[in-house]
Amino acid sequence: MALQAVLLLALSGIASAQWGTLPSNADNATDHPAYYANLTFEPARSISTWENLTVETPSGTFVGMLNDSYPDVRQFLRIPFAQPPIGDLRWMPPQKPLPSNKRIDSSRYGPACPQYVVSTGTIWTEWAPSDALLNLGESQVEGAVAWSSDEDCLSLAVWTPADADRHSKLPVALFVTGGGGTQGGIWTPSQLPSPWVSRSQEHIVVTINYRVNIFGNPKSRALDETSLSLLDVRAAVEWVYENIEAFGGDGENIMLWGQSQGAALTHLYTLAFPDDPLAAKFGVISQPPSVTLNLSATDDVYEDFDIVAKALGCNYGDDAEAELECMRQVSWVQIEEYINRYSGSPSISFADYIPDERYIFSNETERYLAGKVARGPAIRSDVAREISTNDEATTAEEEGEWICTAMDDSALRLSLGLETYRYLWAGNFSNISPEYYLGAYHWTDLLMIFGTYREQVGDVPGLEVKTSRTMQDYMLDFLKDPSSLPSAGWVPYNGSAAEGGLILEFGNGTTVKNITGDWLQGGCFNSSIPFRIYG
Ligand SMILES: *[C@@H]1O[C@H](CO)[C@@H](O)[C@H](O)[C@H]1NC(C)=O
Ligand SMILES: *[C@@H]1O[C@H](CO)[C@@H](O)[C@H](O)[C@H]1NC(C)=O
Ligand SMILES: *[C@@H]1O[C@H](CO)[C@@H](O)[C@H](O)[C@H]1NC(C)=O
Ligand SMILES: *[C@@H]1O[C@H](CO)[C@@H](O)[C@H](O)[C@H]1NC(C)=O
Ligand SMILES: *[C@@H]1O[C@H](CO)[C@@H](O)[C@H](O)[C@H]1NC(C)=O
Ligand SMILES: *[C@@H]1O[C@H](CO)[C@@H](O)[C@H](O)[C@H]1NC(C)=O
Ligand SMILES: *[C@@H]1O[C@H](CO)[C@@H](O)[C@H](O)[C@H]1NC(C)=O
Ligand SMILES: *[C@@H]1O[C@H](CO)[C@@H](O)[C@H](O)[C@H]1NC(C)=O
Ligand SMILES: *[C@@H]1O[C@H](CO)[C@@H](O)[C@H](O)[C@H]1NC(C)=O
Ligand SMILES: *[C@@H]1O[C@H](CO)[C@@H](O)[C@H](O)[C@H]1NC(C)=O
Ligand SMILES: *[C@@H]1O[C@H](CO)[C@@H](O)[C@H](O)[C@H]1NC(C)=O
Repeated sequence: MALQAVLLLALSGIASAQWGTLPSNADNATDHPAYYANLTFEPARSISTWENLTVETPSGTFVGMLNDSYPDVRQFLRIPFAQPPIGDLRWMPPQKPLPSNKRIDSSRYGPACPQYVVSTGTIWTEWAPSDALLNLGESQVEGAVAWSSDEDCLSLAVWTPADADRHSKLPVALFVTGGGGTQGGIWTPSQLPSPWVSRSQEHIVVTINYRVNIFGNPKSRALDETSLSLLDVRAAVEWVYENIEAFGGDGENIMLWGQSQGAALTHLYTLAFPDDPLAAKFGVISQPPSVTLNLSATDDVYEDFDIVAKALGCNYGDDAEAELECMRQVSWVQIEEYINRYSGSPSISFADYIPDERYIFSNETERYLAGKVARGPAIRSDVAREISTNDEATTAEEEGEWICTAMDDSALRLSLGLETYRYLWAGNFSNISPEYYLGAYHWTDLLMIFGTYREQVGDVPGLEVKTSRTMQDYMLDFLKDPSSLPSAGWVPYNGSAAEGGLILEFGNGTTVKNITGDWLQGGCFNSSIPFRIYG
């Protein structure tokens, strides 16, 4: 199977036999209990008058809240970081928000960017719904546009210790969620950071929404820029850099980090903005091998947009401008639903980006060798099972692609004198592993870092608690001062050192231990060494 296809399945949650056996009574859109959500009656709300929950910025005055479950964490759940990308701004790069002194209630999440809830059972929908965007009472397999999404989606959320103020200057972890380029957003239950911020009281977490699918990667020949997802990340970093001090953060100490598609975007960001990254450090958690289109293997990169446009009545022959303008008049719901239901040939995808040699580069090695990469240390990590098929050999082979990507990248960074701290998540804890055979599965390390593992049903052994604390402490050390890591046991990765260098392994029988590069990634250069997938 083509790598691209496997990745798409792994990342976007599209169902397929290769996800393994689902329960025979698996939910589906038709046999799910009738929809019921109490959307009509919401309790009356009030905006807090507490000065310490009110933060003024040039683009608005945001009033946050304290959640009873974590009263020592201040939450601002909806802060627009760009103008709404609607009307003429649909498919345009994000625009700076207009100056405003409006008072905005930030006590609730804003909508995620346009996306749909898949129609068939997958690991994510059946066993790991806490990794999916919270939906407003739709079934996990609704097969329709997500009601919690909307085109006016470019907002971020900020979590700070309750007593943080503009003098606190805390380090900031700016998180980009995964979702295969088609899904994802702030309101993903297992990725909400309150437990972590509550425990540390020493850092701030920001999580962003960014445009996905055709809205984030429109592939129209009439556009100068099509990789809008990446530009959305940039706009969010700029907003945080300029405004986080008022929330208690240090704009000069931002870690941009992301998982899966969010990791790919973080990685691409380091190559796109080498000279003024604004972020001081990076975290690349489970980066898929590549989300950049190979131009020599693709006849017409603009075809997918044409297919959608023509089907929706925007057929102007070769007039790409007219096609785009017409598509700006079509409801986002109709566009998203069309893509959701499309099963024609050729298949279409808006999850990988077109190299434009300005933000997205066809030859990343060349970029590195020219020194065009953001300075600043990085974490690069993988998990013992990045993808899952029924077939162990395929799983191991695909696992290798991910591990070797991290290895190659770290080597290029080292050649420029840039430090990379590597880890492998290998904890097999039943309450967070979607299925026993998956062990340390793609994304479950996030539950350990955010501290949300406790909210999942099932026993929580002592090792799980200790491992989570250890991972949080290392992340916090990295945030505060990476030079403190070696004395805490985490040495930078050096592939040329003895036994291929050192990588930390978390959660495999003990909280943390060293493993060697040769042990983990020997298969990258010697095909008789297997990739290990058992945590
Ligand atoms: C989904 O619903 C249809 C129609 O009720 C039914 O035929 C099918 O068996 C169901 N699929 C699963 C996996 O339960
Ligand atoms: C909906 O929720 C509100 C507030 O919790 C409650 O007062 C109301 O009875 C609910 N309505 C229905 C139809 O359940
Ligand atoms: C408070 O936080 C908990 C845990 O994240 C969440 O389940 C709950 O919905 C939140 N309550 C409010 C009012 O936001
Ligand atoms: C925030 O302000 C409220 C109201 O003045 C006060 O009761 C509370 O203690 C303050 N919280 C912190 C963490 O300073
Ligand atoms: C791109 O595709 C061409 C043609 O299929 C192939 O030869 C080449 O190796 C591919 N490049 C990469 C970086 O995968
Ligand atoms: C990418 O650039 C490197 C360094 O210039 C070169 O060795 C390599 O062949 C290039 N790769 C492709 C696919 O062109
Ligand atoms: C995880 O542990 C269970 C026993 O608790 C075991 O059956 C399973 O094989 C383990 N999975 C992996 C991937 O190691
Ligand atoms: C890993 O090995 C290095 C070098 O021997 C050591 O300094 C470090 O403490 C070890 N880390 C752990 C977690 O054991
Ligand atoms: C990496 O290891 C090699 C071999 O031991 C050594 O020569 C080199 O200085 C090391 N690089 C760094 C950055 O420590
Ligand atoms: C590759 O690994 C195998 C098994 O560990 C080993 O026997 C062989 O010598 C290795 N080959 C090379 C070229 O290192
Ligand atoms: C976990 O540790 C055991 C023994 O220490 C080892 O055999 C296994 O390969 C490790 N699993 C992973 C995924 O590293």
